[in-house]
Amino acid sequence: MATCSPRVMISDDEPGCDLDLFCIPHHYAADLERVFIPHGLIVDRTKRLAQDVMKEMGGHHIIALCVFKMGYKFFADLLDYIKVLNRNSDRSIPMTVDFIRLKSYCNDQSTKDLKVIGGDDLSTLTRKNVLIVEDILDTGKTTQTLLSLVKQYNPKMVKIASLLVKRTSQSVGYRPGFVGFEILDNFVIGYTLDYNTSGI
Ligand code: IMP
Repeated sequence: MATCSPRVMISDDEPGCDLDLFCIPHHYAADLERVFIPHGLIVDRTKRLAQDVMKEMGGHHIIALCVFKMGYKFFADLLDYIKVLNRNSDRSIPMTVDFIRLKSYCNDQSTKDLKVIGGDDLSTLTRKNVLIVEDILDTGKTTQTLLSLVKQYNPKMVKIASLLVKRTSQSVGYRPGFVGFEILDNFVIGYTLDYNTSGI
């Protein structure tokens, strides 16, 4: 049975905040309805996730894997907080980072396959504690496929940190070890999540 990792729940009837209360980039304004998670809350939650990561994974060399492009802001912030904790710890451990991009395409059965493009040779993951950092899990299919791919390289441990997880009936039921917020089934943008995969 899947256990639920702690997360901040944004409920289905959460009203969010009026856009006028925040500085919204002009080019987004027409497409947005509400602000659900103000930036300060993301910062505070990310600091706590960094603590949780160090507690569970900080006993051995960590390789943090950033899934480009949209997850880079969360990745950079999470890693900064982890690095501060690591630096101030009596038992600091080596940490390295790698970056991958995923490309999905339909195979001849018209189901989606996932291909990793870019990044180092993934054999560097062998016998390491691998932290895969994601922006958002929607159905969770991307993450599930990536996870089985990474496991082929026999890491000592592999965990996923995702800033957001959507509550959706389309979910494959996969629950990451570290989750920032569980959100309603809406399309969300901001904090480097954008309308498409080339988001900034
Ligand atoms: P999944 O395989 O269905 O979990 O899809 C995950 C990917 O879809 C994420 O890494 C994002 O690139 C994209 N995605 C899904 N929902 C959203 C959203 O609400 N905003 C921005 N990107 C999204």
